[in-house]
Amino acid sequence: MGLDMGSEQFSDEIGGSLARIEELLLAELSSGEDFLTEAATHLAKAGGKRFRPLFALLAAQFGPRPDATEVITAATVVELIHLATLYHDDVMDEADMRRGTVSANSRWGNSVAILAGDFLFARASRLVSTLGPESVRIIADTFAELVTGQMRETIGNQAGTDPVDHYLRVVWEKTASLIAAAGRFGGMTSGAASEDIERLSRLGDAIGTAFQVSDDIIDISSQSDDSGKNPGTDLREGVHTLPVLYALRDSGPDADRLRALLVSDSGERIPLVDDADVTEALTLLNASPGMDRARETLRGYADKAFAELAALPASPSTDALTSLVTYTVDRIG
Ligand code: FPP
Ligand code: MG
Ligand code: MG
Repeated sequence: MGLDMGSEQFSDEIGGSLARIEELLLAELSSGEDFLTEAATHLAKAGGKRFRPLFALLAAQFGPRPDATEVITAATVVELIHLATLYHDDVMDEADMRRGTVSANSRWGNSVAILAGDFLFARASRLVSTLGPESVRIIADTFAELVTGQMRETIGNQAGTDPVDHYLRVVWEKTASLIAAAGRFGGMTSGAASEDIERLSRLGDAIGTAFQVSDDIIDISSQSDDSGKNPGTDLREGVHTLPVLYALRDSGPDADRLRALLVSDSGERIPLVDDADVTEALTLLNASPGMDRARETLRGYADKAFAELAALPASPSTDALTSLVTYTVDRIG
């Protein structure tokens, strides 16, 4: 991600803490049964950015005890929860690949993947209990948000709800809520002031949403060689992200053509199969005002994040957090 960490010494300290988290993560996932350990460590070993633990560590810099064992524990709990949801998500999405490697469901089947996710959740629950009942409650509430978001996405937008509101609510529930919890946990476990803990939670919420919206924009605007991902993946899966929802609200011949490509007569979303359809939809979307509106929405969340940062006291992680927010905007090009 190329974050500006401020100083080399600070960067080394965070690197050391991330290594401790990695160690604890793998220790927690060892079960004593080889078949279970193999399935349970599959996604952790496949890589990942460890974005949530990193954010928890950066948030912990606002308290007097950023190096406390509890900070490492909290950051690991959040990553365990995140990984657990990915096992289940790949089953629901019938995804073959995750993090450049074969998904657990594709390798061992749905039952093993679901049980591996459950095992991660069990380990996260055990670990969070060492932080006390308040932490257990926060994780339970966050877990309920994740499930609510996943279910809201599954049942789809209901009549009477604006599709953009529905979309942003799902993003908050299934993505931003856990990043907000990472910020809250980092602040809490390092002993930050209560108003700063609330700010760190809101900062996580804004950064999480900004990241998702920037991902959505990149899926439409990128050339396959610069993002490392194939553009149009969401359209192929029949997923209508924020720029698409904005563009479908428009009128005129381009918006009509986009609707004909993406929405059936009965209002169902059409997953695009033909490469030519994907190329045409991407061309229409890139020329549509919906893209600019999505960029504006992204800037709005980034501004919210900057405002939370400005209200927090200066800390060793201020530069890194500022560069993280800047990155969500700059990465769209
Ligand atoms: C990925 O979204 C999925 C999530 C961020 C959250 C999934 C939440 C659950 C499965 C809730 C239930 C969890 C448990 C452990 C019972 P995506 O499919 O849009 O993104 P992807 O491209 O990463 O697959
Ligand atoms: Mg998925
Ligand atoms: Mg999904």
